[in-house]
Amino acid sequence: MTINEFNFEGQKAIVRVDFNVPLKDGNITDDTRIRGAVPTLKLILEKGGSLIIMSHMGKPKGKIKPELSLGQIKDAVAAALGVAEVKFAPDCAKAQEAAAALKPGEVLLLENLRYYPEEEGKPVGIDKEDPAYEAAKKEMKAKQKEFAKTLASYADCYVMDAFGTAHRKHASTAVIADYFDADHKMLGLLMEKEVKAVDNVLNNIQRPFIAIMGGSKVSSKIGIIENLLGKVDKLILCGGMTYTFSKAHGGEIGSSIVEMDKLDVALNVEKLAKENGVELVMAPDATCTNGLDFGTMTVKEGAEIITAPANAIPEGFEGVDAGPESQKKFADAIKGCKTILWNGPAGVFECDDFCAGSKAIGDAIAEATAEGAFSLIGGGDSVACCTKFGLTDKVSYISTGGGALLEAIEGKVLPGVAAIQG
Ligand code: 3PG
Repeated sequence: MTINEFNFEGQKAIVRVDFNVPLKDGNITDDTRIRGAVPTLKLILEKGGSLIIMSHMGKPKGKIKPELSLGQIKDAVAAALGVAEVKFAPDCAKAQEAAAALKPGEVLLLENLRYYPEEEGKPVGIDKEDPAYEAAKKEMKAKQKEFAKTLASYADCYVMDAFGTAHRKHASTAVIADYFDADHKMLGLLMEKEVKAVDNVLNNIQRPFIAIMGGSKVSSKIGIIENLLGKVDKLILCGGMTYTFSKAHGGEIGSSIVEMDKLDVALNVEKLAKENGVELVMAPDATCTNGLDFGTMTVKEGAEIITAPANAIPEGFEGVDAGPESQKKFADAIKGCKTILWNGPAGVFECDDFCAGSKAIGDAIAEATAEGAFSLIGGGDSVACCTKFGLTDKVSYISTGGGALLEAIEGKVLPGVAAIQG
């Protein structure tokens, strides 16, 4: 079933969205994910349905944490949907009455699903090594089914539109689908768009294809890096992981971030790149400082900012951005490419002194896109870079997924998709 075909007239739809949006003092600092879900939600209302919207926020791990309450974003959701009111169910597992009372055109938002450990379905407060763990896990899986069944009981049909959480096999993203017939469960419009964007970089590649992987740890990206080495023509590796590569070759990296237990992983990536004929592009130089305050994201008074070779960073300094030579090298590598994937910044872009590397990448992607390339940007930090540099309309597609996008590009089947498509 597809959302365009389904007759929502007089039907209650329970829709899983990913409203895990960043908040500061209760205000949404980036509403990309809310905007992403609006087309699906509006379509259901326009077709005469009523909405029960559910999401998680943050990682409360089965505890009630007021700072992670979805009640905080209720009015923003109403504004995004253009409705006068969004009703709120303060207990997502006890919303039967509120759901039953919904009339066509009305909207009910459920409280954070992860206030219940059943949502994730993992036993809490017991160590994996504990002999009782397996029994606790089994018990929790049974409770997860009950929880999913309760959520399903609120509605006539189920719509999965939470791409950002589609890599999780949770009660609301996957298990719930078991309680609806095949013609009463479907993917939302955002899911359809995201899956198509992934398909463009997995199965419909225009060459040259370049991937730009940034971020602080090679370990968290190794799965996707290995997978991409079989697909891309060029791979830029940047950000904090640069220094693990420098160290692996015996370089001096000062106090830069490094994964000492992943030096062999870094060397293996280089070997795989060679075997696959992939041009590996790494930063020759780094912008370094001896005084970045990560709390305020500013450089401390009197601290120095220098440029150094990425493998000869002086003692007491840490690499915090790609240096000028690297910026040029990255931009040159991106120029002329026809398929571009960007995940992870080239430096501490939140600090204005150290965003030049990420900006050089973003600008080069925008330029290539203007010349006809397909560019896909994913992961919270790269999306924030695009927003910061005013590039959101200059790239082809900005994904609402971080981990989900990476897993999809690794070629894994997302549980949220499998639950609907079988
Ligand atoms: C995200 O922000 O990547 C999604 O909302 C998923 O969150 P999670 O990693 O806590 O499951």
